[in-house]
Amino acid sequence: MRLSGAERAMLSGDHGPAAQKAMEIVVALAEIYEAEDLVPVASVQVAGVSYGNLGQAGLDFLREWAEQGARVAIPTTLNPAGMDLEAWRQLGIPREYAQRQLEVIEVYRAMGITISCSCTPYLAGNTPGLGQHIAWSESSAVSYANSVLGARTNREGGPSALAAAITGRTARYGLHLDDNRQAQLIVEVACDLHSQADFSALGYLVGQRAGGSVPYFRLQSGLEPGLDELKSLGAAMAASGAVALYHVEGVTPEARARTMVASDANTLSIESLDEAYEILQGAGQKIDLVWVGCPHASLAEIERTADQLGGRQVEATLWVTAAREVLRAARTKGLTDRIEGCGGRVVADACLIGAPLGDMGISSVATNSSKGAFYLRNHPRLQIRFGTLAQCIEAAVKGRWPA
Ligand code: F3S
Repeated sequence: MRLSGAERAMLSGDHGPAAQKAMEIVVALAEIYEAEDLVPVASVQVAGVSYGNLGQAGLDFLREWAEQGARVAIPTTLNPAGMDLEAWRQLGIPREYAQRQLEVIEVYRAMGITISCSCTPYLAGNTPGLGQHIAWSESSAVSYANSVLGARTNREGGPSALAAAITGRTARYGLHLDDNRQAQLIVEVACDLHSQADFSALGYLVGQRAGGSVPYFRLQSGLEPGLDELKSLGAAMAASGAVALYHVEGVTPEARARTMVASDANTLSIESLDEAYEILQGAGQKIDLVWVGCPHASLAEIERTADQLGGRQVEATLWVTAAREVLRAARTKGLTDRIEGCGGRVVADACLIGAPLGDMGISSVATNSSKGAFYLRNHPRLQIRFGTLAQCIEAAVKGRWPA
């Protein structure tokens, strides 16, 4: 494998032990994946933030690296935490958990990372361009960056993304290479898609059947998904099938630019979404918490939530999770007032997967995200419902899943 002089210097410790450790990780991955060289990256998204997922061992590992002098060399943003970093008291987060979570954040801050705490960095200032090499973790963000923006990243893990942030490099393999961005599976979608939840359900089904390959969607004519639908489609496939890149004919940038289908591609036909709804929508009528914003909500989704509420008071807890920058824009537009006036909350920084839901007395969750439902459905103490935004808001208002 070829390394530049600067890369060799980092590897031999000329830039200190933290950079050396980071370069060792990058080079080890390059050797495993038989990369010919490293590629400079324009930005990094680091996952591994929720204290609930990291645990004390993860926090100690990060702290040791920071104490060795680990500092990021390029713009680096952060995945969600397990709570809103400012409003955690009002949201009922236990104090002991909050203290640990804030310690994690301080370590990342010391490394020079932007404390964005969102899985939609592309809605909050970290928006890579077509063909740009990046090193992102967070599977839904990876899918969006590759597919919707046409940037180039593999699915990095937390430590490998951090190593890329410190060195400014990643191994040139996988989706950084042209050949690997071709679709091997044509997905003919023969059913109607009426809502963002439908795109999420479609993503769940295709992810399960794609076997990690790159799908190329042909939707019914006249159907042109918006950015929120694409966000939900990709997040669902990333969760159910580790899909990191997809194309939609006539819509996504690389599908527009050139033929992106391999000559020996298989075909999959999707006639109905019923199977996804049946598997994911769970049981139980009582709803404690309604969760909108997985991946974190755009301004348009927050507005649709406020519209759907239509001034009605909620019985259940309603959280709309979003990047803090999006939350500020929603506040300026008066959308947070409309939601909070109904008893709901727009919550920044948080992902419910990492939140201490059990300790907060929550035993049933409704969401319009198949990714959220997919991850929470095996939770030992939670009942999950998956449905459209309209169903979820109805559940929030009544405290029960609509019949
Ligand atoms: Fe984001 Fe958490 Fe959903 S990281 S995509 S809100 S599971």
